[in-house]
Amino acid sequence: MGNAHAKSWDAQSLIIEKRDGEALPDEAIDWFVAGYTDGSIPDYQAAAMLMAIFHHGLDGRELTRWTTAMIDSGRRFDLSGFDRPLVDKHSTGGVGDKVSLILCPLVAACGAIVPQVSGRGLGHTGGTLDKLEAIPGWQAQMGPDRFRQILDEVGAVIAAASDELAPADRKLYALRDVTGTVASIPLIASSIMSKKIASGTEALVLDVKVGNGAFMRDLDDARVLAETMVDIGNSSGVRTVALLTAMDHPLGRAVGNTLEVDEAIEVLAGGGPADLIEVVVTLAREMLSLVGIDVDPAETLASGGAAPVWQRMIEAQGGDLSAPRPRADHQLDVTATEGGWVSGLDALAVGVASMRLGAGRARKEDDVDFGAGIECLVKPGEPVTVDQPILRLHSNRPETFPVAAELLEAAVTYSHSEPERRPLIIDRIA
Ligand code: URA
Repeated sequence: MGNAHAKSWDAQSLIIEKRDGEALPDEAIDWFVAGYTDGSIPDYQAAAMLMAIFHHGLDGRELTRWTTAMIDSGRRFDLSGFDRPLVDKHSTGGVGDKVSLILCPLVAACGAIVPQVSGRGLGHTGGTLDKLEAIPGWQAQMGPDRFRQILDEVGAVIAAASDELAPADRKLYALRDVTGTVASIPLIASSIMSKKIASGTEALVLDVKVGNGAFMRDLDDARVLAETMVDIGNSSGVRTVALLTAMDHPLGRAVGNTLEVDEAIEVLAGGGPADLIEVVVTLAREMLSLVGIDVDPAETLASGGAAPVWQRMIEAQGGDLSAPRPRADHQLDVTATEGGWVSGLDALAVGVASMRLGAGRARKEDDVDFGAGIECLVKPGEPVTVDQPILRLHSNRPETFPVAAELLEAAVTYSHSEPERRPLIIDRIA
């Protein structure tokens, strides 16, 4: 980007400036991000810069410029010309978070267009694309013309990012992943917002997860991340609101790809767990209100009104909902060691156990076992008797059961009286 006429920068001096806590000039940021994307700046210098940013952050001006440089590393998609407003949602990731599967068709059924570019799971968190790939035939990849056509015909699409969408992020994210620089607020914010802004949405609701199963365990950090992303969105012309939502326990009862698709279908048919419905409906209300649509999504959901849109959305991407989805051959129940109430179920432990059973990836190149996962038969806040099954493990690799079961036994806490319910929706940042 614009390097030919710019002052000539050198990577080492810029790393030193950032290492010493100075702010980087705008053109230097453009030069650095473009240079890393095109390969003229090597991984080792980009890694050093990321570590310097990790320690010193980016001020508001630098962050806006860094995000813009990431957007401009690829193409800004033009989604103008629809007769309905466009609104998207992004979650920072959690355990059992199948919200997008329900929310995208729901918000489309209520009258908006939902152009969702989504990702895969890594580590203990699941990814929306992996979940949908549990549906036989479903394809995440498509070109911009097909993306637009499905939006036109169905109103909602969930697809993988194309190579042209913020390519700087693909390289920077992979580098952060192996250099201990993922958990940096400006780097997370610019990574998420560059992709969302470039994807062409008009409005965006962010679901910033807080708790031990989330990226941000600390409420104050989550709030700063949410405020940072809301500022970037609004200053780039994308109306943005964030909700802070609890991720101490898995969301819903199902964790793992096929299991989560099953649960999403249950909710789309008007049933399903109350916590999942609460998060879906609250996010849907925010999305609809951002684009001025006055429809109650709770009614649409409860009456099964989003199910036909879901069906069309999946079929448009080749998915066959009537075909059997992959199931695991082996099950094992973890039973209660105490009676009373379940007071806690550590989301991180459930996520890690599910990954060990085969539902997630330990490394990017790993295959996912769609049938693997965990059913939470008893959730925090529900009564339990000694020896009652509380978690059902599913895997095609029964040798993983002992490790997963041990993790899960330690993940459950009990109380002798009914535990207080903690709010799921913690805060709203606008
Ligand atoms: N999701 C992203 O896309 N990027 C991050 O840095 C973290 C979560």
